Amino acid sequence: MLMTMPTQTQPRALPKITVIGTGYLGATHAAALAELGFEVLGLDVLPDKIASLSRGEVPFYEPGLGDILRRHVSGLPGSSGRLSFTTSYTDAAAFGDIHFICVNTPQKPGEYACDMSYVDAAVESLAPHLTRPALVVGKSTVPVGSAARLARRVAELAPAEGAELAWNPEFLREGFAVEDTLRPDRIVVGVTSERAETLLREVYAKPVAEGVPFLVTDLPTAELVKTAANAFLSTKISFINAMAEICEAADGDVVKLAEALGHDDRIGKKFLRAGIGFGGGCLPKDIRAFMARAGELGASEALSFLREIDSINMRRRASMVELTRETLDGSLLGKRVAVLGAAFKPDSDDVRDSPALNIAGQLHLQGAEVTVYDPKAMENAKRLFPTLRYAATATEAATGAHAVLHLTEWREFRELDPAALAEVVSTRHVLDGRNTLDPALWRKANWTYRALGRPTA
Ligand code: UGA
Repeated sequence: MLMTMPTQTQPRALPKITVIGTGYLGATHAAALAELGFEVLGLDVLPDKIASLSRGEVPFYEPGLGDILRRHVSGLPGSSGRLSFTTSYTDAAAFGDIHFICVNTPQKPGEYACDMSYVDAAVESLAPHLTRPALVVGKSTVPVGSAARLARRVAELAPAEGAELAWNPEFLREGFAVEDTLRPDRIVVGVTSERAETLLREVYAKPVAEGVPFLVTDLPTAELVKTAANAFLSTKISFINAMAEICEAADGDVVKLAEALGHDDRIGKKFLRAGIGFGGGCLPKDIRAFMARAGELGASEALSFLREIDSINMRRRASMVELTRETLDGSLLGKRVAVLGAAFKPDSDDVRDSPALNIAGQLHLQGAEVTVYDPKAMENAKRLFPTLRYAATATEAATGAHAVLHLTEWREFRELDPAALAEVVSTRHVLDGRNTLDPALWRKANWTYRALGRPTA
């Protein structure tokens, strides 16, 4: 559900906002701030991205984002005109009172640490143009200590007195980005001055008035809230996946186990879905960057458990490959495998570190003929794994298959008719990597249903 726009005219004094980096995070943040009534200028160094956003087109799949974007992008019929885009840092500095940095911080190739070059470049490019007091606000996920370092850079580089930096981590989930931005669970701001806090309270006045908790911290705590949250979520998923391994050894059912655990309020049922584990552009690289940073701080022991969380997670992918081999009488050579799902999770076209694609790739390398279908992530998947086969529908992917693997839990796959699919496959083996298909339904249509952590399901 989206917020409606305020009906009264906004006071003139509202701060003007820029959003630097217009990926999942930045594009959503920019559109959401325009929705909240602010004038916003989005900046990206990629001209193609800026051209597409300026036409009101989202260059990736995110439910609901296109609608709010088109409501506000200047020049579009019927839009509020509050949102524009640029590639120029000079324009951004001239426009904004508050500058949100939303660029990505990927894992460095061959290392655990995160690559800060985009964040650094954003600060280095913007700060020399800050000729009036301005607040730079980091939202990217960064190693603790970065904000203090960048605050010093802003003070050194900005010609204006009073240019300063704050940290305001983002907790949005892909697939729910708009909702999470407009109605977050909490807003955390790390500040070093009252002025910064006042400005950020102004930015978030509407959600705060609607009851969203607003927490004020120092810079390192704000950075840590984000990495600690992602570390906790990863731990919860790997915990239940470790229980899945035990269920496999002890003939238990991890889905029932998770359901029963989830009824305990102290544990809760969210993020206890066992399966092929977590992927995407955040959790895997964030736990690794967190371990790397702890090492630099001389506190590596505190996070050594995250290495285990990572191993449990990566083992799930290998287990799925083994379960497939076992189902196909011990050999993958020449076997046809249909893979349903390529995105790292449903309602997203993001294939970064996707467990589904990783498994598809491993099966292919071990001699299976793999055909992949995903409702939204086909183009991204083809770019990353051009040697896999791709089909236009789930049925086409399953045609002639010796096994059907369900690896991303799109609603479309839950709604498949097992009896109809049975007509097109070579052998009726379904392997559920997300534990969301109904075993009884598939077995009724004479399929063998197998899943991780559910030998008895
Ligand atoms: C994650 C966090 O949930 C956000 O709060 C955070 O803002 C974001 O990272 C970020 O750092 O920017 P996201 O990567 O969009 O969000 O995806 P999640 O919904 O957390 O799912 C991550 C992975 O865990 C997916 O592959 C999903 O399939 C898997 N997962 C999730 C499970 O295997 N089991 C579960 O019970 C839940």
